[in-house]
Amino acid sequence: MAVKVVVVGAGAVGATVAYTLLTADLANELVLIDINRDRAEGEAMDIADGTPFTGPVRIYAGDYEDCRDALIVIFAAGANQRPGETRLELAARNVKVVRDVMDRLLRYWNGGVLLMVTNPVDVLTYAALRFSGLPENAVIGSGTVLDSARFRYLLSRHCRVDGRNVHAYVLGEHGDSEVFVWSRAAIAGIHVDDFCDRRGVPRPDRQDLSERVRRAAAEIIARKGATYYGVSLSVRRICEAVVRDQESVLTVSGLVDGYYGVTDTAFSLPTIVGRRGRVKVLDIPLAPEEQQALCYSAGILKQAQRDNGL
Ligand code: 2OP
Repeated sequence: MAVKVVVVGAGAVGATVAYTLLTADLANELVLIDINRDRAEGEAMDIADGTPFTGPVRIYAGDYEDCRDALIVIFAAGANQRPGETRLELAARNVKVVRDVMDRLLRYWNGGVLLMVTNPVDVLTYAALRFSGLPENAVIGSGTVLDSARFRYLLSRHCRVDGRNVHAYVLGEHGDSEVFVWSRAAIAGIHVDDFCDRRGVPRPDRQDLSERVRRAAAEIIARKGATYYGVSLSVRRICEAVVRDQESVLTVSGLVDGYYGVTDTAFSLPTIVGRRGRVKVLDIPLAPEEQQALCYSAGILKQAQRDNGL
């Protein structure tokens, strides 16, 4: 079955997402849409030049009409953080962009999975859901998939083990209030602390490692002005789960209503992701302090939703 993926927004994130998807051999057709048509064309032309090395993917700059039969529409449009700015400070500007794009998109799109990437991704996932009226399962945000990867990466370095063997999750806001599920962090089926004892390395300093993950984006932005490689590989992983219907557990963002006592707020929980998007949200057992931190994070997001008229 032919797979079309549309990327809305051809800035650094959108273009890198398109490039990363090309290398993943997931789509037959990749469309880039941007208000700056030249930019979208330039990026598409540049990426298309590589297709003799990757496989025959049609990649081009398009319009919303081209979304009609897209399996996935990736939203990467809008402003990004300036050094020193938090993700939530972008909300007002980017909620407007979501409203505008949803109006245009829904005139043509027959539906599929809408993957929100722009920050603050949780608030914008909620906004997209409200503005579009699409089913809850179909609207997902990249959420803390990247934060969970950063957590796994740092744990893998600390524990001296392949990051693919590290199962560890960051939940809640993709942002400052995110929650590290240390109580369930596991390698080779055992808790990460037990693994360290067996591996002969010290147990990780939880506060220090969590803080390094929490500050990762700010540290990168301070040095190079933006982040786009890590997030693009996270998007690629989510798209792979959707296109191949992999039923993968990923910490994507989406509407949470009734879990851990939270209602009508979008944030990340471990979620089974497949062809229909969010197939099943998992309320894994958390330590009491983690549960409390998750409710706090949800409260911050609920307030941000309200502050932005959602
Ligand atoms: C990141 O975490 C800025 O949200 C972006 O890399």
